[in-house]
Parts: sequence; structure tokens; C-alpha cells
Amino acid sequence: MNADQRTLYEEVILEHNRHPRHYPKNPQGSTHHARGFNPLCNDEIQVHLKVANDTIEDIGFEGAGCAICMASASMMTEAVHGKPLDEVDRLFHRVHNMLAENAPAEGVGKLRVLEGVHEFPMRVKCATLPWHTLQAALEQHSETVCTEGPSPFCPQPSQPAPPP
Ligand code: FES
Repeated sequence: MNADQRTLYEEVILEHNRHPRHYPKNPQGSTHHARGFNPLCNDEIQVHLKVANDTIEDIGFEGAGCAICMASASMMTEAVHGKPLDEVDRLFHRVHNMLAENAPAEGVGKLRVLEGVHEFPMRVKCATLPWHTLQAALEQHSETVCTEGPSPFCPQPSQPAPPP
């Protein structure tokens, strides 16, 4: 990241953190929901979707996270609002590869500004948490998305007891 890119990165993150879009919000008639949790910092977000006609007709999120998590969630809601599910799936993979694998920031639109996150390994999970939570909501997973994987620090909803 050169100095101009770093300035833009910091400005965009701070602006979205100060004024997160679609937050706090649970759209009326929401159909999908998931919870994401980072047990290293206790930050948690919840993503709510209203899906109809294979399209994300509305989206909102709640909870609290660091500036990068909140900015990533805010930018995510702007990027996927009103988008068909197949387009959202392609965007998820592009953004994830950009953040986690340092893949070229192609086809990600304004989210390109987040590509600098890759330079800060400790923050990659902050930025990807909202996206994994979105994906879990779309796949209707009831388990909490945990940045550290299943662990005692990331309690899951209790499972029904197996039949005797
Ligand atoms: Fe908690 Fe970033 S420090 S999500």
C-alpha cells in the first residue's frame, strides 16, 4: 500500500465505522439470519436478510465490532443490497480471496479499498467475519460463525438430544 492508498483506506474505514450503513437494522419480513463471533475480542455481529426472488431485497446488521469489522460489514451491506444471489456468491469469493489470499482485487467494486487489510494478518478475520456471517445466513446455518472455529470459547446452540 502506498501513502495515498493508506490514507484512502483509513478514511473509508473510519467513515463507515462512524456511520455504518444498514445498521442497526433487522429488515421487516427478514427471512435469513446468522450470528458471527470473534472469541479473541468478544466482538459479535448479526446479519439479517430479506431474500425473495433469488435476490437480497433487504439487509441489515447489528452488534459491535472493531472499526475494520464494522466497516467491512457496512460496505458489504451496500454491495449486496438488491443483488441476485448468484452475484452475491461470486462477490463473496472474490472478496474473501482478496482479503485472505491477497488475490487481485478484481470485480469487487468499492470493496477494493479493503485489499490493504491483507497487510495486517491480525485484522483479516475482522474483515472476513461479516462475509462469513452473510454466507452462513444465506445457507441458513444455525451455528454461530466463529473466527477460531468450533471451540469452548465459541459456544454453539445446544443440540437436541439423540433419540434413545
Ligand atoms: Fe474484534 Fe476486529 S478486533 S473483530
